[in-house]
Amino acid sequence: MSFSFSEKYLRPFVSDKELNAMAAEAAAAQRTVFEKTGEGADFIGWYDLPDKKGNAEYRRIIAAAEKIRRDCEVFLVIGIGGSYLGARAAIEFLYGQYHNRTRKNVPEIYFIGNDISEDHLYEVLTVCEGRDVCVNVISKSGTTTEPALAFRVVWNMLVEKYGKEANKRIYVTTDAKKGALRTMAEKYGYESFVITDDVGGRYSVLSPVGLLPIAVAGADIGKMLDGAAAAKKKFASFDFAENEVMRYAALRNWFYRHGKSMELLTVNEPALTMFCEWFKQLFGESEGKDGKGLYPSSAVYTTDLHSLGQFIQQGTRIMFESVINYAPKGKMTVPADKDNFDNLNYMAGKEVAYVTQKAFLGTVLAHTDGDVPNIVFTLTDRSEYDFGYMAFFFEQACAVSGYMLGINPFNQPGVEAYKKNMFALLGKPGYESDLAALDEKMKELS
Ligand code: PA5
Repeated sequence: MSFSFSEKYLRPFVSDKELNAMAAEAAAAQRTVFEKTGEGADFIGWYDLPDKKGNAEYRRIIAAAEKIRRDCEVFLVIGIGGSYLGARAAIEFLYGQYHNRTRKNVPEIYFIGNDISEDHLYEVLTVCEGRDVCVNVISKSGTTTEPALAFRVVWNMLVEKYGKEANKRIYVTTDAKKGALRTMAEKYGYESFVITDDVGGRYSVLSPVGLLPIAVAGADIGKMLDGAAAAKKKFASFDFAENEVMRYAALRNWFYRHGKSMELLTVNEPALTMFCEWFKQLFGESEGKDGKGLYPSSAVYTTDLHSLGQFIQQGTRIMFESVINYAPKGKMTVPADKDNFDNLNYMAGKEVAYVTQKAFLGTVLAHTDGDVPNIVFTLTDRSEYDFGYMAFFFEQACAVSGYMLGINPFNQPGVEAYKKNMFALLGKPGYESDLAALDEKMKELS
């Protein structure tokens, strides 16, 4: 396995004895997840997703992905939050940020409907001009404004381009029975995939939500589920000394209870940037409620050491770091130069990956000295298996950590507040009294 966990740099901050004192609590939280006895237990379907490899829907995903690869040059993935972050995180994790230029025999993949930006939509429609396009529109509720708006625009473009044939280029991932997308899929005959009731958006990357776009990108989704299944097996134990999910969940809560209010996930590989975004949604929506929770943030090193680094080293002492140290086998060496104007000959002949590791170690030691505890994960490969393993690790850790925190890790009531205001301000029928209340508030403010 190429993903591992280390507490080596934590000793100045938390002793074994202090952490072990949380063992019973972590075990109780994990039991709550496994036995589905806590709040939100109806949403623990993600725990069974690794076992769905090979079922009928899985086979349909593989077949649809092959067809999409044959039918188009541009593949649009429409969705927001949990309905897009996982797929994008996985594709960039596997193939890097330039996958649309470097991958052969697969369509370019663009993610839209994850904002309300006319310019973003316009730019992507420009990319589609004169090229064959397929679309996967993903929304569990089928009613979320951002993807609905993007889909309406894209639908219009497809119908103008292909007429009725457009229906064969539209793939829908949504609820089995409810919502506008289900109605449209039935009326127009779109191929559709189901997000089951027991899987919440941010826990859905290993469901058809993530798997179809990931498969279109050419990834082996079977290996991804194998990685998740391996994590599921490994972290099923209640042995606190061994179970890294329980230890990580306990450490997060320990730091929270001892004055830290922010977890900074840091990575030293830009291909993991979207993994950080996925992580932030997972933990932010799961734990940030009832006036509680660590604020999940992220940084990409060494890039952000030249922006956020100053704050991390010496600013307000509010954070601990969870570091994902990507340490692959090197494949590129630093060239020697006879003039040595840049004085880099001292590293000539060394792999760039070696330099990365020195930067990692230097940073951990500096931040630790600066009173920022560092939990360190090491990742040595960026395969499908690794992504599945890591995704499952963090999902289970989030559920266990959330129950330790004393909240329901599976709801997101706070997300509705902005939507209600936006609908009222847009004049959506049914929001008249909300609009009147907002008008009053605006008067008070002016
Ligand atoms: O994790 C969640 O539940 C949310 O982030 C949703 O994924 C997001 O709001 C999109 O919802 P939907 O898939 O219903 O369009």
